[in-house]
Amino acid sequence: MAATFIFSGFVKAVDPKGGAYKIQEYFTAFHLTFLSSYYSSIAFAIALSTLEFWIGASLLLGIRRRTSTTLVLLMMALLTPLTLFLAVFNPVSDCGCFGDALVLTNWQTFWKNIVLLIAAISVFLGRYLIVPFISNSLQWLFSLYSIFYSLVLAVYCYTNLPIIDFRPYHKGVNIVQAMSIPKGAKQPVYRTDLIYKKNGVKKTFTIDNYPKDDSWTFVDSKNVLIEKGYEPPINDFSLQDETTGADSTQQLLHERNYVFLLIANRLDVASDEDLDLINDAYDYAKANGYPFFCVTSSPEKYIAQWRDRTGAEYPFLLADEVVLKTIIRSNPGLVLLHNGTVINKWNHANIPDLSEQKKSLDKLPIGVMHEDNQLKTIAQCVGWFFIPLIVLLWLDILVVKRKFRKRKKFNINPLIYNKMRKNIVAGNWKMNKTLQEGIDLVKDLNAVLADAKPNCDVVICTPFIHLASVTPIVDKKIGVGAENCADKEKGAFTGEVSAAMVASTGAKYVILGHSERRAYYHETSEMLKTKVELALANGLTPIFCVGEKLDEREAGKQDEVVGSQLKDALFDLSVEDFSKLIIAYEPVWAIGTGKTATGEQAEDVHAFIRKTIADKYGKEVANNTSILYGGSCKPSNAKELFAKPDIDGGLIGGAALKAEDFKGIIDAFN
Ligand code: PGA
Repeated sequence: MAATFIFSGFVKAVDPKGGAYKIQEYFTAFHLTFLSSYYSSIAFAIALSTLEFWIGASLLLGIRRRTSTTLVLLMMALLTPLTLFLAVFNPVSDCGCFGDALVLTNWQTFWKNIVLLIAAISVFLGRYLIVPFISNSLQWLFSLYSIFYSLVLAVYCYTNLPIIDFRPYHKGVNIVQAMSIPKGAKQPVYRTDLIYKKNGVKKTFTIDNYPKDDSWTFVDSKNVLIEKGYEPPINDFSLQDETTGADSTQQLLHERNYVFLLIANRLDVASDEDLDLINDAYDYAKANGYPFFCVTSSPEKYIAQWRDRTGAEYPFLLADEVVLKTIIRSNPGLVLLHNGTVINKWNHANIPDLSEQKKSLDKLPIGVMHEDNQLKTIAQCVGWFFIPLIVLLWLDILVVKRKFRKRKKFNINPLIYNKMRKNIVAGNWKMNKTLQEGIDLVKDLNAVLADAKPNCDVVICTPFIHLASVTPIVDKKIGVGAENCADKEKGAFTGEVSAAMVASTGAKYVILGHSERRAYYHETSEMLKTKVELALANGLTPIFCVGEKLDEREAGKQDEVVGSQLKDALFDLSVEDFSKLIIAYEPVWAIGTGKTATGEQAEDVHAFIRKTIADKYGKEVANNTSILYGGSCKPSNAKELFAKPDIDGGLIGGAALKAEDFKGIIDAFN
């Protein structure tokens, strides 16, 4: 999918004028002529090539996954029915999806789009499984670079000539040879249909079965092409003398000398910005005995106007407009032929200055054929795209991802390692501290953390009563949260505090589903589901607790219990909403008992939680979800616990009530 879009965007950027001609063809076919001005078509062509290139590059790098996969799906959903229409009704000869680089018939395009539509649907559905090669914080830079690259390419090819010439008139082509049909080449096969009529009814017969009796009358016969024969690359090159109407094609193609052709498909809109260069080239040709013609499709009136406007003295030849647009993507553009071979081509702005030139063409570099090395050009294009990209990629690996790797000392593939989840130490004050004591604790915390640079996010969750007093005085480094919120939005629920009220104090977090609330206040998964939704709707980050009781642990049912707590309350959330949660695993038997789970016991359940999330929401969401451990976590055991790959911090009860202890746990990340 990525390669198709990159290729499609690239070949369109290489030939923006070709794209614009195709778009004009579409606008005309669909009677939208008011849109088909040259400049709007050019703008449209460049925008389309940039969009396709950006989508391809984003898919390749796994960045901006939601936008790029949605755009891919939208484009394919729109293009597939359109191409079916093209295949059935043939309003344009070929769809132009890959410019002139790869010309497909309308039916081939339709089947190609069916395959791409299936791919687009699966890419869209699996968008969160696409591995991002770039950290979130640097994705904008890569995005911008791919847009910049494709725009610069398109503008360069617009103001010069396409850097890769996919048309049959590229440098080095001998037009005579390209027009000839080799001996023994495949001939086209026709079938003759004979139409007869009897009693007013027409019927079609073939040469083998037509009726011989007189009751049938012959109406018509038709030759139907059933198998195409060999088609030479050039089959419509034909030049006529403007004054005599004589065919000059052969004479010109067999001219042994150099011939200059100033190709101007339409003189009424041709650029006259570089007249001096054109007239100097004509004077040079005349002085050296080289024929010089202007070839156009414009009628006499415009030829006369051009002569008046530019002082042109050269003779004119007439040719088909499409052929001229195919020969050179510049109006006017200069083509140098020698013995029927294309030696050189120039956009009008790049015509060589021949005003002072004394040497004949065979002694000048411009008169010697330098056939374009297309492989080299393609290699340069690939280089210009990938070398800066690789440099940025290394920057990402060395600077951004390294920061995250340092926090976790385990081995990960740096190329695809994209752990953006946060380490968090959150305090849970439970039903402790009066308002004054709470304020004092916050002041103590501010003081002990004043010079600290915590290597994790720090949060304190306090009783409701403290929130409004704590949020204005707490240090910026510390987030504030509640320990609960109501499962109702508002109204007559005496004694309850809503998520909106919590948010109105400036708090940003809320603990939900703590085992003490499940056990003593009979909170069910059904209620918690509503609480989580209300918290998210009010912009709060839920810290959602799960954990098994002692008898469940002893029966080895911890995974089962934790798994259903997650599923029942959370797994109806959308990916976006789920990605906002923090999970806390708190084995009930370890809470407030002084009995900590060992690092291994905790890690086992954390890894299980992450896998359960991955199965539901994909690996990336799982990798980005912070999972905290809670239950008798203290400065002395925090380091061991936090070193486990799936433990991303702690939810701390008792040890959060003393500033020094809490800081000791935070320091476990340093
Ligand atoms: P504890 O409590 O650290 O006192 O065991 C943790 C919790 O219940 O959140």
